[in-house]
Amino acid sequence: MNPFKIGNVVIDPPLALAPMAGVTNHAFRIVCKRLGGVGLVSTEMFSAYAIKFRDPRTKSMIDWTDEERPISAQVFAGDPETVAIGARALQDWGDDIVDVNFGCPVPKVAKSGSGAMLLKNIDLCREILIATRQVLNVPLSIKCRIGWAADDRAVFELAKTAQICGVDSITVHARTASQGYSGAADWDIIGEVKKLVGIPVIANGDVKTPEDAARIMEQTGCDGVMIGRAALGNPFIFAHSAEYLRTGIVPPEPTYAERMEAAIEHASILAGILGYARAARELRGHLVHYFKGMPGAPKLRARVMTTKSVEEILEVLNEARCKCEPGLFEA
Ligand SMILES: Cc1cc2nc3c(=O)[nH]c(=O)nc-3n(C[C@H](O)[C@H](O)[C@H](O)COP(=O)(O)O)c2cc1C
Repeated sequence: MNPFKIGNVVIDPPLALAPMAGVTNHAFRIVCKRLGGVGLVSTEMFSAYAIKFRDPRTKSMIDWTDEERPISAQVFAGDPETVAIGARALQDWGDDIVDVNFGCPVPKVAKSGSGAMLLKNIDLCREILIATRQVLNVPLSIKCRIGWAADDRAVFELAKTAQICGVDSITVHARTASQGYSGAADWDIIGEVKKLVGIPVIANGDVKTPEDAARIMEQTGCDGVMIGRAALGNPFIFAHSAEYLRTGIVPPEPTYAERMEAAIEHASILAGILGYARAARELRGHLVHYFKGMPGAPKLRARVMTTKSVEEILEVLNEARCKCEPGLFEA
């Protein structure tokens, strides 16, 4: 397991938390960082249009701290000038790496000609990358799908274009946009991208276990691995993957008590940022993942869904943690 660099930024270990809208906020990034094993964390994606038009909500989402570094902030828009403005703002706000989104298939984003829609127009991608590279001193990365429709492999052209434009790394989520999240990610295509370009390639899609992280590295020859959904409710995945890559030994699954401790940490950090009432609303979606597979999960879920404050949520989590003494749920 070797570290790698995106521009001058060292990614060590070579494992990254994927950008996930509504998920990878400051609190979740910190929880992943404190558990260890994550060499790079990513923000949720920011609309460069919102930054350009000074939407105050976007500015309030720029909430990273030194503990999270190195941090990559992601931006999307469909035209060169707007992407460049958004990217420059992220750099000026102290971001370490700016990532441009060429992979989001969500209709709201794609309809504006942004995200994965750009895969249909590599000339426009080139213009965006040239304009963005010009305004940045920090490393520039991109994240993309392999194409728009079933047999589309726009990723090959985009990867070569990105390298020529001075992009410092490319993350490939190995599905087409039209696939959404269905079917299996095609890791062979990531391997083909790796052979095409000299810049670091980060492999993404369906890495669910430490063994998957090792397999995707071996199968693709990639420089780094990005993990998204498997980190939901299981921010231990990075530390466990790093350990497995280093020693060949899979660490034991986190106990339920450990999961509850991570959830408590998550809730406490979020409450510190958003205040107790707002944090409660945002936490509910996360807690469902922390409870997954736990005996009594439906009851716990029901309880946190009806609570109005983080104090009550913390009570539920602490109670659940106490019940999780070894032997109670583990039998
Ligand atoms: C809830 C959610 C939000 C996401 N938001 C973003 C995003 O803002 N930007 C992005 O590039 N990808 C986004 N993705 C895609 C992930 O970064 C990742 O590419 C995808 O989930 C595949 O990786 P995985 O199999 O490890 O989850 C999102 C995925 C999920 C599940």
